[in-house]
Amino acid sequence: MQLSVVILAAGQGKRMNSDLPKVLQPLAGKPLLQHVIEVARRLAPENIYIVYGHGGSEVQAAFEHERIDWVLQAEQLGTGHAVMQAMPMIPDDHLVLILYGDVPLIRIDTLRALVGAANMHAAAGAQAPAGALAVSLLCAQVPSPAGYGRVIRDAAGTVTAIIEHKDATPAQRLIHEIYSGLMAIPAKCLREWLLDLRSDNTQHEFYLTDVVAAAVRAGTTVHAVLAGSDWEILGVNDKVQLALAEAAYRHERARELMLAGATLVDPARVDIRGHVRVGRDVSIDINALFEGEVSLGARVRVGPNCVIRESRIGADTEIHANSIIDNALVGEHCMIGPFARLRPSSVLEQHVHVGNFVEVKNTRIGANSKANHLSYLGDSDVGSGVNVGAGSVTCNYDGANKWPTVIEDGAFIGSGSMLVAPVRVGAHATIGAGSTISSDAPAGTLTVARAKQTTVEGWTRPVKKAAVLPKLKR
Ligand code: UD1
Ligand code: CA
Repeated sequence: MQLSVVILAAGQGKRMNSDLPKVLQPLAGKPLLQHVIEVARRLAPENIYIVYGHGGSEVQAAFEHERIDWVLQAEQLGTGHAVMQAMPMIPDDHLVLILYGDVPLIRIDTLRALVGAANMHAAAGAQAPAGALAVSLLCAQVPSPAGYGRVIRDAAGTVTAIIEHKDATPAQRLIHEIYSGLMAIPAKCLREWLLDLRSDNTQHEFYLTDVVAAAVRAGTTVHAVLAGSDWEILGVNDKVQLALAEAAYRHERARELMLAGATLVDPARVDIRGHVRVGRDVSIDINALFEGEVSLGARVRVGPNCVIRESRIGADTEIHANSIIDNALVGEHCMIGPFARLRPSSVLEQHVHVGNFVEVKNTRIGANSKANHLSYLGDSDVGSGVNVGAGSVTCNYDGANKWPTVIEDGAFIGSGSMLVAPVRVGAHATIGAGSTISSDAPAGTLTVARAKQTTVEGWTRPVKKAAVLPKLKR
């Protein structure tokens, strides 16, 4: 059956106490709503409708590149009223999956189970016509159910209704089985049942949850699907819950890495804001932060306090403590850091060494080349087998424009050299230490560009005089 997803996101999120709309608050580096859209997309629905209200234009602008059908709910009159706004667009023969914009951690497997349960034909012998669909509710058993809608069952254990906490009797409030807010329901029935909703409840809202009792009255099977874990139905209403969701996300990603074979010295001290893929026998020390899509080849070792963002690291490479790697490709058997910084568009081939206090930006470094200490390589193309001596700098910026530096294979750049771009150092050329190179250095020879050393005979050091302070003009 074709699927329409409706994401409810019109709530104000007052409890965030933030100028940023709730569904745009970042979780693992992405807006809450983006997590929901991404998992919804994986179900390949016909359409994704987002019901928006508060902060509408800002929310829409944040997702302008996404194929989304936006539905305005001008006044927030309840979850049932929110879903009603999307119904005119949804064909009768669709299954409708209701998600929340502020329940970001929901897993694809759980959604598949929910959709699967609604697609399951009514149990044999039930009064529903053959081939009829069911309603499925995502539920959970939680230790503290306060605030949630409760799942009401009859003596036979059949679900008969969802009662909101505020409307529940003291006896009903003792029920620990709660409704997560997510459901899958056939469009034709939903349309019909929504028409019957009334707002004569404690909150004077149109409750979507009232369609459950309507379904039961119509003889439609209602399945309660249990969420695989409590964290995936966690709703984010304030900054405390946002931090809880972040911790759950981090914990899950760390767990995935360990199950994939990575050794995490302390899984509680690895931060993952995105996805990390690992080869076999990767080891990750404490306080590593990964952002976006990161891949670590087999046997990569990541030292403490490293930040790795949107990068690929080849097998057997070692990244020492306190290194930052951002949008870079690092080959196999490289040695990075400690205290190295690889900035965007850096490409390191195999067996490259980039040592402490070396910054590399928009630069390719060929195989077996080394820049081990205190250097800057920017907008450069460095060949293979090159040695860049300590403190050497590619002077790529003239105050207005950036210029390239080319260092060909086998070149040796003496310590403290300034390569004033645009400039080329030929293959196997040697640059004498302390040179300032502003025109091309020919291949295979020694080029030295520095003042000749002189010794001044009879020179004496100045001696300290009594302090004479210059008068300051006022
Ligand atoms: C809802 C459920 C409750 C469930 C709980 C789980 C109803 C009546 N109750 O309660 O059974 O246990 O979620 O968290 O459905 N929204 C709109 N427009 C509105 C109202 C809400 O878009 O007019 C959106 C909110 O932005 C939010 C979601 O719907 O994403 C849920 O709204 P919320 O007010 O948090 O529902 P609860 O009262 O907590
Ligand atoms: Ca809520």
